Amino acid sequence: MEFKSDTDTEVLVQLVEYIMVKKNLPLVEAVQVALHQVIGAYAIAIIDKRDPRQIIAARKQSPLVVGIGKDEFFLGSDASPIIDYTDKVVYLEDGNIAVIRLDEGLKVISILGKEQELKVKTVDIDLGQIEKGGYEHFMLKEIFEQPECLMNCMRGRINVEGNHVTLSAMIDYRQQLLGAKRIVIVACGTSWHAGLIAGQLFESLCRIPCEVEYASEFRYRNPVVTKDDVVIAISQSGETADTLAAIQLAKEQGAFIFGICNAIGSSIPRATNTGTYIHVGPEIGVASTKAFTGQVTVLSMLALCLAAERKTISEDLYKQMVKELTQIPDKMEQALKTNEQIEHLAPIFTYAKNCLYLGRGYNYPLALEGALKLKEISYIHAEGYPAAEMKHGPIALIDSEMPVFVIATRDRLYEKVISNIQEVRARGGRVTALVTEGDTQIQKFADHVITLPDTPECFQPLIASIPLQLLAYHIAVCKGKDVDRPRNLAKSVTVE
Ligand code: M6R
Repeated sequence: MEFKSDTDTEVLVQLVEYIMVKKNLPLVEAVQVALHQVIGAYAIAIIDKRDPRQIIAARKQSPLVVGIGKDEFFLGSDASPIIDYTDKVVYLEDGNIAVIRLDEGLKVISILGKEQELKVKTVDIDLGQIEKGGYEHFMLKEIFEQPECLMNCMRGRINVEGNHVTLSAMIDYRQQLLGAKRIVIVACGTSWHAGLIAGQLFESLCRIPCEVEYASEFRYRNPVVTKDDVVIAISQSGETADTLAAIQLAKEQGAFIFGICNAIGSSIPRATNTGTYIHVGPEIGVASTKAFTGQVTVLSMLALCLAAERKTISEDLYKQMVKELTQIPDKMEQALKTNEQIEHLAPIFTYAKNCLYLGRGYNYPLALEGALKLKEISYIHAEGYPAAEMKHGPIALIDSEMPVFVIATRDRLYEKVISNIQEVRARGGRVTALVTEGDTQIQKFADHVITLPDTPECFQPLIASIPLQLLAYHIAVCKGKDVDRPRNLAKSVTVE
């Protein structure tokens, strides 16, 4: 057979056609034969123009959802674009084929042609949740809805008195979770940053050793995983190919897998032993905002449950921490009031070619997250760095052209961060600091100060993420960028 294209999708169509003609097979059988020869991940839908009333769809390691309407069907990589038309969907299992005929309806078969049970699910997504609701961009809407999202995330999990957390996974899989000798977190991008925060929580509150890994590295580096490990996979979309592959690897080594996802019914929750949804509603903007704070909230609840059960924190501290968590939505509302100030500041930074984000402790992952937000939507190069590491190299970059954003909220490392700010100032760096209300020291050294409500340091990233998201948003808007659909990026990264 002669290749007529080097695009994989086009090659596949040619292969199906070739098999149909050569073996005189109907489309569905030709697809089965062709897919036996395909290596790698795919989600495909094929129509033969000679029989346009039929669609054959198939998936392997890439998501595919079939929506069932009245005399019509829909295909998508997740349910959100479909729910405008129907709430009845079938999540196609890996390796299965959907045969859709307008006259006969939907049938699902295996790649070997064996008919499979049709598992129709009703999706519970409110259409209003995927509209902009008066905001200019989904990203801005999603930033502003975080207080409500976090209330939804905690609802039914934290009691009305606000002093006790119950996670159903903790009840159903108590033994497996409490038996963890080690926690390994696998995730990508923003979800990995949430994992870095959780890693500190699991170690400091629960005294469980914790490693936080990029799923894309973990899956290829032959890691040591044992049946005493609990592997936590974090993913907004629940479809990230590398995270799915990391889960698969950890499963094969006997680890217990806990998923933290947003998209209900997506592949990762289906591949894990148990888990907790973050329940922040569909996230449409490519830059993850409410999913990040939802993930950190669920991970905080999980850490508090484990710490209470393992008695690694006192009952009083546990209750106090749970209470503090319930107050986060109100404090986020306060943090959102910085929007106007940030909108005014944003034009100053649009000239920048590079920006630096500094933080320490729990605020270090947030520095990474702030930098990622700026990079992906404004295309300004940005680095997140642990503030004390500056003197080991990056401080050489500092000059008056370099905006430096420092998360300098009041915590154990506050005085040290002040020294780090002074080091930056001494080299002519322009500092914008996020500080805790009542702070009078930092304004002496910073060019701009953004004030945030006080909260325990482990929850500070939940509050301080708000101005960093707003900053990235307004800078990108000032630069005229397509905030919700940044170039070269997809919302779900279903390819490795
Ligand atoms: O759906 P996931 O959480 O697994 O996605 C992981 C990353 O692709 C994602 O967080 C990405 O980094 C965001 N665009 C960042 O805003």
